[in-house]
Amino acid sequence: MEVTESITPTDKTWTARILTLFPEMFPGPLGQSLAGKALEKGIWRLETMQIRDFATDKHRTVDDTPFGGGAGMVMRPDVVDAALAAATQDGLKPAIYLTPRGRLLKQDLVQELAAGPGVVLLCGRYEGLDERVIEARGLLEVSLGDFVLSGGEPAALALIDACVRLLPGVMGAQATLDEESFETGLLEYPHYTRPAEWKDKKVPEVLISGHHERIQSWRQRQSEETTKLRRPDLWDAYLKRGSEKGR
Ligand code: ADE
Repeated sequence: MEVTESITPTDKTWTARILTLFPEMFPGPLGQSLAGKALEKGIWRLETMQIRDFATDKHRTVDDTPFGGGAGMVMRPDVVDAALAAATQDGLKPAIYLTPRGRLLKQDLVQELAAGPGVVLLCGRYEGLDERVIEARGLLEVSLGDFVLSGGEPAALALIDACVRLLPGVMGAQATLDEESFETGLLEYPHYTRPAEWKDKKVPEVLISGHHERIQSWRQRQSEETTKLRRPDLWDAYLKRGSEKGR
C-alpha cells in the first residue's frame, strides 16, 4: 500500500483509501493548496492500493469480456473482492463505488463522510464492475452527476476534496460560515472586488454603501433570485422547508 507521506498521522486520522488501477493519479490536485497543506500537516491521510496487485494469474488480469456480449470489458468480482477485503480489514468504512449509476453526491453525504473515520473508494475503469461484488460487499454507489467520466478517479478526487475542506483545522472559521450558507439551500449571491469600475461596469451601489443590513438583504434577494432562475428544484425544496418550519 502506498502512503503519501504526512506528519504523524494517528489511528484517528481521517483516511481516504483508494483502490485504483492508476495510483499515479493521486494525490494529484489534492497535493496542492488547502488539501495539500492539510495532508502535509497530517490532518488527513491518503493511501492508494493497486487493484492489479490482487490478480492471481501470471498476466495480472483484472477484467474480462461481459457475459451476454457487448462492448467493453468488465472488472472481475474475485479480483476486486480481494482488493476490498484488504482495504477494509482494519474496519475502515464506508466502502464506496464511484459510478454514474449511484446516489448523487450532495453536501449532506459529504458532511456525513467528513464526520466519520474516512472512506474506502473503489475507482472503476472499463465498462463497469461485476454486479455481484457490489452486492456481496454492500458497496455504497455514488455518482458525481449525470455525465460519464472515463473512470472513477476524478470523481474520487472531487469527493475527497469536498470532505477534506470540512475537516477541523483545514479552513478555520470560513468553512463553518460557508456551510451555513449552503444549509439555507440557496445558491450564493454574486461577489465583487476592486476595481469598483471595470470595463464600464460598476459594482452594485449597495455594496459600497457601508450599510450592513441593506447589504445583507441585497445578498439574500440575489441568492433567492439566482436560485429561482437557475435551480427551480432547489428553490422548491427551500420553499417547502420554510413552510414546514412555519408549522
Ligand atoms: N465514474 C464514471 N462516471 C462517473 C460519475 N459521473 N460519477 C462518479 N463516478 C463515475
